[in-house]
Parts: sequence; C-alpha cells; structure tokens
Amino acid sequence: MKQITVSAPGKLILLGEHAVVYGKPAIIVSVAKRCFVTLTPRNDKTIKIVSENQDQVLDYPEFIISKTLEYFHKKLTLGFDLSINSQIPINGGMGSSSALAVSIAGAVSLFLGQKFDKEKINAIAYLAEQKKHGNPSGGDNSTCCFGGLVWFRKETPDLKIISQLPFNIHEKITNNFLTIFTGTPKESTKEMVNIVEELYKKRPKFIQSIFNRQESLVRELLPALKNGDEDVIIKCIRQSEKNLEHLGVVPPFVKLGIQKIEKIGGAAKICGAGGRTKGGGILLAYHKNRKELETLLEFHKFDFSPITLASEGVRQEL
Ligand code: MEV
Repeated sequence: MKQITVSAPGKLILLGEHAVVYGKPAIIVSVAKRCFVTLTPRNDKTIKIVSENQDQVLDYPEFIISKTLEYFHKKLTLGFDLSINSQIPINGGMGSSSALAVSIAGAVSLFLGQKFDKEKINAIAYLAEQKKHGNPSGGDNSTCCFGGLVWFRKETPDLKIISQLPFNIHEKITNNFLTIFTGTPKESTKEMVNIVEELYKKRPKFIQSIFNRQESLVRELLPALKNGDEDVIIKCIRQSEKNLEHLGVVPPFVKLGIQKIEKIGGAAKICGAGGRTKGGGILLAYHKNRKELETLLEFHKFDFSPITLASEGVRQEL
C-alpha cells in the first residue's frame, strides 16, 4: 500500500466566536496555512507518530486515530508511521487542532479503505475536538474540513448548519486583512469556553445581550464582505471586539494594541477563544490602507503577516 498525504487548512473566525457555542451564527474562513499529515504503512503493528512541530502534543493524534477506527468499527491489522507537518501556529486561534483532527481523520479513513467523504471526516474530527475542547461548537473543524467562507450555526447538538457561502470576499478588500500574533494564550480553548460559561451563569441577561449583538453584527458583516463595504467591515470588527472584551477574553495588553490600530482608522479583534493573562493568540486586523497599518505594526514591533483567505478544505495530496 502506498503512502497517503492529506492536508487541511487553518481557519479564522471573522465574527461570532464564543456566541457560536450558544447557538449564534458565525462567519468563519479557511486560510492558506495548512496542516500536512503523511501516513506510511508498516509491515508490523506499530503506530509511530512524529511531528515536525516540536510543541505538538502527540496524545491528541493518537486519540484522533482511535476515534477514526471506532467510527468505522475497524481494528488495525497493520500499523503505520504518521508524520505531521503544520504551518498553522499551535494554540493561537487559527484552528491548529481542528486542522490536525481533520487531516488525520482523512488519512486514516483512506488507509482503512474508506472513501474520502468530507461529511464523515468532519464527524470524526468533531468527536475528537469534543474530547479536547469539552463543548466546542464544531465551527472550527467544519471550516477546516470544507474550506472557503463558511456560515456556521449549531442549532441543536445534532443539527448544525454548515453552509459554504456562494460568493467570495470582495476582491478589492481581501488584501487589506492582516494577522497579528500576540503570543500563545496561557489558557486553553476549553478553559476560555468555561470562563464564558461561568460568566453566563452569573449574568445571563447581560451575556445573552452580548450574544444577540454579535448575531446582528454577523448578519451585517456578511453582505459587507461580499460587496467590499469597508466602513461596515471596520465597524463590525470594532464592535465585535468590544463585545469580546465584555466577555473577558481579551488580555489587557492586547486591548491596548487594538486601540492603537483603531486610532489610525483600522480595526482588529481576536479570532478564536482569546486569552486572559498572557497572549491573546492571533488577531485579525483590517485597514483601508494596509501599508499604513503595516507601518504602525512595524513601529511597535508587532509580529504580523499577510493572510490569504478562503483556501481549499481537506484534500488528498497527490
Ligand atoms: C474557538 O476557536 C472558537 C470558540 O467559539 C469555541 C468554539 O466555537 O468551539 C471560542
């Protein structure tokens, strides 16, 4: 049997993180940074996992493999080497664990002689992500699996709307987005989701009103992305960031950095679970004039990079 390589993209939540766990819609986009997994069949029963990313914890890949076997009611007769090479920053809000779950589920499915079925790959990845993150919405793995610009909504635990939007982000604005790395959060996604849950229990009316506002912004952002309406995009990013700050998921120094970006007419927000005490992971930033934003970020020595949005979902590499 031949070597199998499968890759899946990372993702950025354009708007709707945290609220999406409570059944609100989110707009999520895949990015052109991928996780590659290569499976090489062995002649014995051993499974050997090697990651080129030093900080990758290897018990998660093992768990994804076991979930894939369980899903297809299969047992391994022969083992394999699995090598992981990811371009996605680990634990930064860019979907590193989801892309890993999707690509391993895809590679092991093929190894088991199954069809490359994205629905099934996504279902396995969600089972794995539940173990890792406790109560994830499923938006991250769905976007890493299907790719593109995705409208995601968890209606009930068993019913999710995962809709690949039938249009692209308007050409004239795609280059105006940047990502900024603010440091790896000390808290895991699971911890951040729990923090919001505790707050929800204490102040249900207030938190619900924030989620409702996030939903309105998601609905406003959608046509603005299609039409390239920059003023609305900036407004939506700024207001959603304020809402996330009310949820307590943006570290203080990250808030200060975002204020600097806003002062020169731009906007930025966290785009994952965020953080509290150390880094806030990846920020999504927007400015009508990217050069102006870059000058500011260089001046303050921010770690930023351009980003290509809406890349292809999980695929078998030839
Ligand atoms: C994490 O990338 C996004 C959250 O909304 C959690 C989730 O959707 O499962 C914070």
